[in-house]
Amino acid sequence: MLFLITYYSVRGSTKEIAERIGSVLSTKITSPSTVEVLPMEQVTEPSKYNFVIIGSPVHNFVWVEYASSWLSTNGAALSNSAVWAFSVGTPFAVGKIAQRVLESKEEEQNLAAAISKNVKLEGHVLFNGRFLKSHATTKFNFWWRVFGGKFGDFRDWEKIDKWAGEIGDTIVQRIGKTV
Ligand SMILES: Cc1cc2nc3c(=O)[nH]c(=O)nc-3n(C[C@H](O)[C@H](O)[C@H](O)COP(=O)(O)O)c2cc1C
Repeated sequence: MLFLITYYSVRGSTKEIAERIGSVLSTKITSPSTVEVLPMEQVTEPSKYNFVIIGSPVHNFVWVEYASSWLSTNGAALSNSAVWAFSVGTPFAVGKIAQRVLESKEEEQNLAAAISKNVKLEGHVLFNGRFLKSHATTKFNFWWRVFGGKFGDFRDWEKIDKWAGEIGDTIVQRIGKTV
């Protein structure tokens, strides 16, 4: 059995989350099955993987362009794989006004719906990532602050480990002793 965690990352936090998911899965899944963690640009044959987890940062409420294009190109090749997705934004790092905007946009569900246009999903989650002053323009940062936004690393490793662990358990149950 082959397992793939693939991601696109602009500033590194999605990459580190993908690596963490890979190490959690590796503790559940033993040889001869293999778990690969690869950036999207290094995935040459997506259809060969039985289980796939895909991740992207969120910019302006949608997956970044590279990741959405990759998914629309490769979605059909994943039709025989079980697929999960994770998005990395900063939904809880903003102030009350912006949070209301995000809630009204139902960011997590909207992202899942957009991803599902290209691939059948077993599950989707929106994680908090890292957002620093140096990541955006002075103008963007000014308005971010006005709306009560914060800067920092908001990743919740416990939540990430739990999500990955549950996927690992589902897979182990599904394929039993063959993993
Ligand atoms: C220009 C820009 C736009 C962003 N838009 C959103 C957004 O709409 N929703 C959200 O939850 N996070 C948003 N973020 C936060 C990033 O998605 C977050 O910082 C993420 O951790 C980045 O992942 P990376 O380090 O892998 O690039 C935005 C960040 C930038 C720089």
